[in-house]
Amino acid sequence: MIRFAFLGAGKMASAIAQGLIAGGIVTPENIACLGGTGTSARRLAETTGIRLATGLDDLLNNVDVLVLACKPQQFKLLDPRLKELTKGKLVLSVLAGFTTARLAEFFSQARGVVAVMPNTPTQVQAGVTAWAAEETLAPADASLVEKCFGCLGTVIRIKESLMNTVSAVSGSGPGFFFEIISAFEAAAVTAGLDQETARQLVRQTFIGSARLLEKTGDSPDALRDAVTSPNGSTYAGLQVLAKHDLRGIFPQVIAAAVVRSGELGKM
Ligand SMILES: NC(=O)c1ccc[n+]([C@@H]2O[C@H](COP(=O)([O-])OP(=O)(O)OC[C@H]3O[C@@H](n4cnc5c(N)ncnc54)[C@H](OP(=O)(O)O)[C@@H]3O)[C@@H](O)[C@H]2O)c1
Repeated sequence: MIRFAFLGAGKMASAIAQGLIAGGIVTPENIACLGGTGTSARRLAETTGIRLATGLDDLLNNVDVLVLACKPQQFKLLDPRLKELTKGKLVLSVLAGFTTARLAEFFSQARGVVAVMPNTPTQVQAGVTAWAAEETLAPADASLVEKCFGCLGTVIRIKESLMNTVSAVSGSGPGFFFEIISAFEAAAVTAGLDQETARQLVRQTFIGSARLLEKTGDSPDALRDAVTSPNGSTYAGLQVLAKHDLRGIFPQVIAAAVVRSGELGKM
């Protein structure tokens, strides 16, 4: 069985580690983790049975794959000994904005480096992960990436030049959808519903709409039209979205996230 090490044991590392275990790719005793202060790594170890490493040497001893899952801002604080310690290993980095060239410069003795962009629904095996690697990545390692993230949801290999865009769309995407749901719930309460009723109605409407989209394979435009009668109540609500230029806002939302992703990659 492949042995994994997680350097950084926060939200994204937890989602990936839990998904890998649930998907049968690896058992907890074949994963080790290490964080910064130690708080998150201890929590991850306690909740999953993963081994809490005592230090970098211990973390990387006898390991095939290193998953780098600290914050981009923490990259510069990483111990330079990682270069030696990752010799011959595969390094998968989830750091937003980090190019494989930059990663390969740091992990210069690794057998391959891969830039991976998962998202948080990975923790319920409904994620989508985009990844990019240099041409030289061995086919067996490419298959390994597909297999690991395939059990966490959908996996797509993309051109590296699109990584910041993907980061904005699917990496940050859950955050945008959750903000919309939260605003929708607040509006339902303002309109007179109690909190719990608003919560149930909005969440189930969102989940049901997503399932309908998935099951029918119809476009969102077609599904929107199916619920919109001429001059009906949905139409009236949609007019307000159009008046406030919803379609003009989203390109700005994505552009801001793309720019920030690029900035994070230079930290
Ligand atoms: N969250 C998302 O939706 C998402 C999506 C795609 C990609 N990502 C990427 O995932 C990465 C992690 O994000 P997150 O949301 O999981 O962050 P997080 O929950 O804050 O976790 C960060 C982890 O890094 C550890 N850490 C801090 N300093 C370190 C150091 N010097 N060396 C090693 N580890 C250190 C922290 O340990 P302590 O707690 O012990 O300090 C913690 O375990 C980011 O690079 C982000 O770009 C996130």
